Amino acid sequence: MSVRRLAEENVQPPEFAFNAENAAWAEATIRKYPEGRQQSAVIPLLMRAQEQEGWVSRAAIEYVADMLGMAYIRVLEVATFYTQFQIKPVGTRAHVQVCGTTPCMLRGSEDLIRVCKKKIHHDPLTPNASGTLSWEEVECQGACVNAPMVIIFKDAYEDLTPERLEEIIDAFEAGNGADVPTGPQNGRHFSVPEGGPVTLLEEVVPVRTNLEAPAALSGEAAAAPTNAAKPVTASAEGDTSVKTPVTDKNGAAANAKAAETAAQKPSLDDPNRPKAVDRPEKPDDLELIAGIGPKIAATLNELGIFTYAQIAALTPAQIEWVDAYASFPGRIARDEWIKQADALARGGEEEYVRVFGKKPR
Ligand code: FES
Repeated sequence: MSVRRLAEENVQPPEFAFNAENAAWAEATIRKYPEGRQQSAVIPLLMRAQEQEGWVSRAAIEYVADMLGMAYIRVLEVATFYTQFQIKPVGTRAHVQVCGTTPCMLRGSEDLIRVCKKKIHHDPLTPNASGTLSWEEVECQGACVNAPMVIIFKDAYEDLTPERLEEIIDAFEAGNGADVPTGPQNGRHFSVPEGGPVTLLEEVVPVRTNLEAPAALSGEAAAAPTNAAKPVTASAEGDTSVKTPVTDKNGAAANAKAAETAAQKPSLDDPNRPKAVDRPEKPDDLELIAGIGPKIAATLNELGIFTYAQIAALTPAQIEWVDAYASFPGRIARDEWIKQADALARGGEEEYVRVFGKKPR
């Protein structure tokens, strides 16, 4: 955990100013923002100040605040929040920021910190004797899949071992930091699986299943497509077989689950299917019933259910059929569709408010 405090007063320079080149760059950068939005330039200006001086001093923070017409505290907040800003003098050749957040910690960041303590300085944010190296612990840098990792200035070095970090620190100390390849240090390409892929090893013809809408989800997300569990057409001629078996563990499980779901789906000819009616000229807005979203409403319409009265009149057997057909077991009872539909059918939104004490959504 890093503690972000400005450098002690005795190292703060009395003043700061952009050099001529950076001043021109800063003015041009500020002009990129719409009138009244110049404060949006605060991060690029602070970064430029850091690039000029090596760190961000109090004087630099106040200088940038004055340029942008901001209160000092607002710029101080930005500079102290982002660990990309060095608010104390750091090593001139490398400032090693070790990610210590959970994934990196579980993968060995504490060993990396030990390396930094041994090779740089016992204390974080304290340059070594020659002023060339420093280190600190920071929070997640967004490369968890390649944990553990460090940032040195603007580059990330990932998939580290203590030995590899020692080599990298040595290279920077020798002035050869630019020669160190960035990214993974174990030979893998970006974040591809170590040791090669373990899933999707063979071509798979996708199967559309209502696994895409697990029953545990709420609202419309739980609605299954009406052709759920049908194999996707594998050729232009309409061959609906799955061409290539899935042999990996996860894929096989998915297909088995799809087959199981298909087997459980009730038939449209089942006597418990609610009676379908023709679409009325003005169907009811089924989405006023909490728990019914656009997808579920469309599914109900496909089943010939268009009115509150139809839903209010569902029998327990019909409820069970609809639950199973749409793959959301228990939802109708859980969301009180019948009670909601009954109120809406009897007296519209006014009756709904009277019964439930709130407007339908
Ligand atoms: S936890 Fe270290 S990069 Fe995310």
